[in-house]
Amino acid sequence: MTNTYRIAVIPGDGTGPEVINEGRKVLQEAAGRYGFKLEMTDFDFGGDRYLRTGEVLPEGAVDELRRFDAIYLGAIGHPDVKPGILEKGILLRLRFELDQYINLRPVRLYPGVETPLKDKSPEDIDYVVIRENSGGIYTGTGGVSMKSTAHEVAVQSMVYNRFQVERCLRYAFEYARKFGKKARGKGEVNTLALVGKTNVLTYVFDLWERVFHEIGEQEYSDVKREYYHVDATCMWMVKSPQWFDVLVTTNMFGDIITDLGAETQGGMGIAAGGNINPQGVSMFEPIGGSAPKYTGKNIINPLAAICAGAMMLETLGEVEAAKGIEDAVKKVTGTRLKSLSAGKMGYTTSEVGDLVAGYI
Ligand code: IPM
Ligand code: MN
Repeated sequence: MTNTYRIAVIPGDGTGPEVINEGRKVLQEAAGRYGFKLEMTDFDFGGDRYLRTGEVLPEGAVDELRRFDAIYLGAIGHPDVKPGILEKGILLRLRFELDQYINLRPVRLYPGVETPLKDKSPEDIDYVVIRENSGGIYTGTGGVSMKSTAHEVAVQSMVYNRFQVERCLRYAFEYARKFGKKARGKGEVNTLALVGKTNVLTYVFDLWERVFHEIGEQEYSDVKREYYHVDATCMWMVKSPQWFDVLVTTNMFGDIITDLGAETQGGMGIAAGGNINPQGVSMFEPIGGSAPKYTGKNIINPLAAICAGAMMLETLGEVEAAKGIEDAVKKVTGTRLKSLSAGKMGYTTSEVGDLVAGYI
């Protein structure tokens, strides 16, 4: 029997629709080649719809999305909408309400891609950041008092409960066991490193650290455990990224370090992320944003969206197809593209999609 997956597609704002079109093209090619079906349904959520209707997400939208096998998202962010409204009202709302508690962000340098890190090759830049995606400072716990006076107080708290910490760490250990460097034939051992700040944020990271060692010792003794402070992690991401295998961290730290990671892998043209609920509906996106100034020009790089599509297939269980797409992307970066930057690739957006599809 042929597997059929129902995919909700949210092309979104700016260059989102252009990159998603190329993603679709490649995904359908992979479906044909690897023997499964993708049924895609489009949703017009984003800035234009908001400006037209005054509504960020229509009533019932989240429940409708729950009925799909996965969500494929282009970009959210519109130059005519105040920052925060669409991000919070669409992206963060979906992450929270669909309980996508993992944000998976591989940091991988592909062949032929220029990195700002001196003397580093694809061998050196090849690790994954697992960012907790449901808690921390992102929950909005806090408030303001005495606003607009000289004594104004603002509080925004880093909130974690044991349940959130444990489920995230468990996912990370499982991931390290399945996709760590040993599992991929690239090292002697699978390593999971907790990235925190135990020397200052003594409550929150004490909780993380205790749970990390507890379940690590009891259930994942085959996975090597390390702990790094987040500031030191930033140094090593630049100096010695080859040390890393799988990193796990909190929502805010993960947000920050994955932008640094993206830059080291060649920038936003290639960086993809997955918002994952292992028991529910997950959402996959290029992490680059809507890039309004390139919109409609057919010059934006679609590879990040294509890689997000591959990650979606991997999560759906189509691991071979995901690998097929990744290998095709590597051929394109390694033998074709002059650069990953918009307008400098040597090809148009749709030509890059054609090239990847052609190698599948
Ligand atoms: C990201 C983005 C979002 C975040 C913004 C747009 C809310 O920066 O996906 O990393 O902070 O999580
Ligand atoms: Mn971010």
